[in-house]
Amino acid sequence: MHPHIERVLCTESEIQARIADLAVEISGRLGDEPLTVVGVLNGAVVFVSDLIRHLRAPLELAFVSASSYRGGTTSGALELDFLPKRSSIEGRRVLLVDDILDTGKTMRALMDEFRGNGAAEVFGCVLLDKPSRRVVDCGAEFVGFSIEDAFVVGYGLDYRGLYRNLPYIGVLKPEHAAAAASN
Ligand code: IMP
Ligand code: MG
Repeated sequence: MHPHIERVLCTESEIQARIADLAVEISGRLGDEPLTVVGVLNGAVVFVSDLIRHLRAPLELAFVSASSYRGGTTSGALELDFLPKRSSIEGRRVLLVDDILDTGKTMRALMDEFRGNGAAEVFGCVLLDKPSRRVVDCGAEFVGFSIEDAFVVGYGLDYRGLYRNLPYIGVLKPEHAAAAASN
């Protein structure tokens, strides 16, 4: 285990097994209709790349970059960048994939954005959900693991840009996560 990790919440094999089940849930609900899968950079890169290999529907893969400014004067404002081209969204079923659903602001803003751009339907899919942290009304149709309110890293999730490459999800030791709580 990485020396900065206090405890592991989801092991590599638990994650992989859950993703295979999640793909069955997604296919069961969405069927074989064409799909646009939109991953939220950077955190969802690892998850979305594992997930799509279990999906059998014909799909396009696109990415969006979303950064929130927390704790600042524009707290909650979200800057969206690298939006997928209109033809990937308009009239299409969109599966929006993020690493974690926390306050819900990112997913809420992106779902509204894609609906505003004429998506036929938008579904949310997150590996992790922290329901106790929700600030805006937003849920994901597909959730890998519902977890406690702890700041987690690994499997795409970072703290100050680090730890994304860990194959499991863990909680940072307090001495390495000084500012994580306010992030
Ligand atoms: P939301 O808009 O508050 O739901 O935040 C979602 C984004 O915040 C995620 O895409 C992550 O980038 C980040 N985030 C929230 N909680 C954590 C965490 O525990 N570890 C790492 N990143 C997190
Ligand atoms: Mg993120």
